[in-house]
Formats: sequence, structure tokens, C-alpha cells
Amino acid sequence: MAHLLSTSCIHNPSPTTTKLNFKSLNRCPLTQTSLPVRTLRSSLMALRSYQKKPLKHSITYATATIGQNIGNKTDSGNEDNVPADSSSKPKKVMVIGGDGYCGWATALHLSNKGYEVAIVDNLIRRLFDHQLSLDSLTPISSIQNRIRRWKSLTGKSIDLYIGDICDFEFLSESFKSFEPGAVVHFGEQRSAPYSMIDRSRAVFTQHNNVIGTLNVLFAIKEFREECHLVKLGTMGEYGTPNIDIEEGYITITHNGRTDTLPYPKQASSFYHLSKVHDSHNIAFTCKAWGIRATDLNQGVVYGVRTDETEMHEELSNRFDYDGVFGTALNRFCVQAAVGHPLTVYGKGGQTRGYLDIRDTVQCVELAIANPAKPGEFRVFNQFTEQFSVNELAQLVTRAGTKLGLDVRAVSVPNPRVEAEEHYYNAKHTKLIELGLVPHLLSDSLLDSLLNFAIKYKDRVDPAQIMPNVSWKKIGAKPKTVAL
Ligand SMILES: NC(=O)c1ccc[n+]([C@@H]2O[C@H](COP(=O)([O-])OP(=O)(O)OC[C@H]3O[C@@H](n4cnc5c(N)ncnc54)[C@H](O)[C@@H]3O)[C@@H](O)[C@H]2O)c1
Repeated sequence: MAHLLSTSCIHNPSPTTTKLNFKSLNRCPLTQTSLPVRTLRSSLMALRSYQKKPLKHSITYATATIGQNIGNKTDSGNEDNVPADSSSKPKKVMVIGGDGYCGWATALHLSNKGYEVAIVDNLIRRLFDHQLSLDSLTPISSIQNRIRRWKSLTGKSIDLYIGDICDFEFLSESFKSFEPGAVVHFGEQRSAPYSMIDRSRAVFTQHNNVIGTLNVLFAIKEFREECHLVKLGTMGEYGTPNIDIEEGYITITHNGRTDTLPYPKQASSFYHLSKVHDSHNIAFTCKAWGIRATDLNQGVVYGVRTDETEMHEELSNRFDYDGVFGTALNRFCVQAAVGHPLTVYGKGGQTRGYLDIRDTVQCVELAIANPAKPGEFRVFNQFTEQFSVNELAQLVTRAGTKLGLDVRAVSVPNPRVEAEEHYYNAKHTKLIELGLVPHLLSDSLLDSLLNFAIKYKDRVDPAQIMPNVSWKKIGAKPKTVAL
């Protein structure tokens, strides 16, 4: 959102900085620790006054061309970097939201696989943490340091464009400069509770997500017509219907006539509704403009380690355990590690699709390597197993007890409006057909997740564990139970 972060920078960092070339209106000096505090403060104020002021797009473009040549790589970041196994795959992948949980792991994975990667991010996820006094369980480095460390370990560069995709001028410059063959779009406000805090967060979420995606679609149409959009949707778009969930489309016979139609959407938060609207906009532009797109309706992601983030602590991924951004299994592991009862919402029969973060990166790579055709709007359900909340609590209790932890689950009042006991059977075969080899949730993975949570347990703020956003009482904190 331009009104939240008014500074947009294009940066190609390197451990061996030699020169900075700034083009455009103002300078945006980027240093080792350049998460711009000045920008963050003004952004906080901007969010508060969001409803009162018309949006003013104040943009700074800065192109920082830094560093040594590596192989064929030129100062401008162009490299003839062909992925090992197919010359038809796009070579240049723009990862929007590449500083976030899924995006960071994916950017490194693609870079490791030989793709030329650029991260586009306005770092707003870090701002949300400041605003809500939250923090990742794992200490995370600045994006500049992460990228420098990656280059020093592997010799591979990742370009960095810091800015807001709701700012079309910034996005256009990023597209023209990087010329992506594929765009992976993770860059949204992705928490359902955040979108339900109050009116301003609901409006922010829908504006940020819907306008951001619309801008990406226009950028593809205007500058990179062949570019394949890989967009992260969510399984939450479907809700919990009393019939099987198909992958994007359902064939219906009605009054004697048959058609294949988009699967009905029953989103259950303002965040999920933003995703539904994204899907409609993407489907429409595939039809109208011939955009090629894959909508990855992702389940709930768990885990933290991937081959690449394991390489150095400065590459560590974020791990959210709080009531706003934390997701079920990750939260339960942290709760078990600090001796907090596992917080099962209501009856605990809520069933969803889940996947390991190592499979997120695999799925995205598969989607890129096997692009949609021009005009095609593909939908893949991206998860590997389904569990109810009670089943997850039982698995964590068992694994925690084995490790000598005192784990118990309690039912807490459900802050959400959702079915707590329901039918759930969602198809997820298309990514398997493309070659996904899932990492299924096993005892050993749970052990390692729990040990990981134990390692960082001193960083846990117990005040952030209970849910404090209610779907019904907007802006009010629901009562917590005695523990
Ligand atoms: N994490 C999950 O379990 C999960 C499950 C289903 C779907 N998803 C989807 O995957 C995507 C990534 O999720 P995540 O968990 O990595 O989220 P995240 O919040 O960790 O990362 C999102 C990133 O996007 C950036 N961003 C947000 N708005 C932007 C904007 N306007 N311009 C530029 N950058 C912007 C943020 O700064 C952040 O770095 C989201 O679209 C989310 O809806 C995630």
C-alpha cells in the first residue's frame, strides 16, 4: 500500500558493495541494516489516518547496482541462468512477498535450482509485528542481510525491489527492470484474524490484496504478456461444504443441462474474501486478455526448515506462534514447548488441508516448471494431508509426551465463526500428477518441530498465545479461559 510505505527501492545487494547508482526522484540509501525505521514510524501514523486521507502516492525509485560479476552475471543483474532440466522453463522468476514465510523459503529454493530470482516486498509484514507487538519465534535477519548471506554462501544473487505492489508505478518499474518469465505472488496480508481486528484492517486487507493482484495482472498485460502468474490462494476460499471439494471447478447438471463451473466459494473472513475476489479477477483476465495463471489454493503450512534456510542462521525463516499470524500446528508446537495448554478452538472438529513448508516450495517450483497455457486459469489444491484440530492436538500431545513435556489440550471459546464439526474431503491430485513427492507429517518431523520450539522457547511471549480477535465483537477482546 503506497499510503503505508511511501518509499520504494530497487536493490541488488552484495557483500562486496562497490557502487550505488540511484535513479529517480529521491535517494533511498540502503545499508546493512536498512529496514527503514523512519518509514515504519510514518507508516504507523499512516495506517491510523488511513480512513481520513485520500491516498497520496509518493514514490522513490532507487536502483542500487552493487557488487562483483559472478560467471555471466552482469552488474545489472541479468544472468543467462538456465534451469538444469528444461530450456522451456522461465528463467527469471519474480517472487512477490519474498521476505515472508512462504516467499523467503521459495525464493531461496528457486535460486538454488538455478532460476534467476528477484524479490519484491514492501516489508509490511515486519511492520505488522511492530504494530501488534509480535515477533517471530526465530530471530530473522533483515532482507538485505539475508540476501547478502545467500550470495556469500552460494555465489547466487537475488535482486531486491523494496516497494508496494499497490503502487503501480513501482511495480511497472520492477517489471520493466527485471523482465520476469514467471511471477509468484505471495505478497498479501494473509491473516484472517488480522482482517477481523477492526474496520481499518478489513479495508486494508481487501485493498492491499485485491488491488495488489489487480496491479500484477495489469503489469503482466502491459509489460510481460507471456509471463506466467503463480498466485497463492487458499483452501479457505472453498469453506467447508457438505460435498467433496474439487480442484477449482465442478461439473454440474442443472435442469437437464451440464456445465463445468468455478467451484462455489464460501469464504469465512475478510481475508479469505479478498482471496476469492483475487481468483475472480485472475479468471476474468485469463479469459479477457489471455493471461496464463495458476491459482494455488494452499492449505495451512507448517514447519520452518527447508534445505536452503538450514544453511545458515541468517537465512532462518520466520515462525509465527501468536494468535493473529500463527497457524495451527506451529502454534501447538510452541505451546507444548512452553507448557501452555494446546488451544483447541471450540469442539476442535474443524478439518483443513495441511502441508510442510518443504512442499510449498516444491509445489511452486512444479507450477513454474509446467506453466499454464495462454488464457488458461488453472487451480491446484496445494496441500498433502487433512487433519482436524483435535487430531493435531493429539499428535502433538503424543510427540511432546515422548520428549518428556507435560502437554495437554484445552478447549477455548472459538473466536471465529465456523463449523466445528463438519464433512471435509478435498481433492489434491493435480500437483501429485506433476511430480510432487510429499513430506507427510511424521513423528520425526513433529519431534524436530518440538525440539525447534524448545530451542527458542525463551523468546516466547506468553501474552501472545491466546486468541484475542473475535469474529463477532469487532475491536473487542474476547474473554480468555482460566488455564
Ligand atoms: N502461511 C500459510 O499457512 C498460508 C496458507 C495458505 C495460503 N497462504 C498464502 O501464501 C501467501 C504467503 O503467505 P505467508 O505465510 O508467507 O505470509 P507472510 O505474511 O509471511 O508474507 C507475505 C509477504 O508479502 C509482503 N507483502 C504484503 N503486502 C504487500 C504489498 N502490497 N506489496 C509488497 N509486498 C507485500 C509482506 O511484507 C510479507 O513479506 C499469502 O498470499 C497467503 O495468503 C499462506
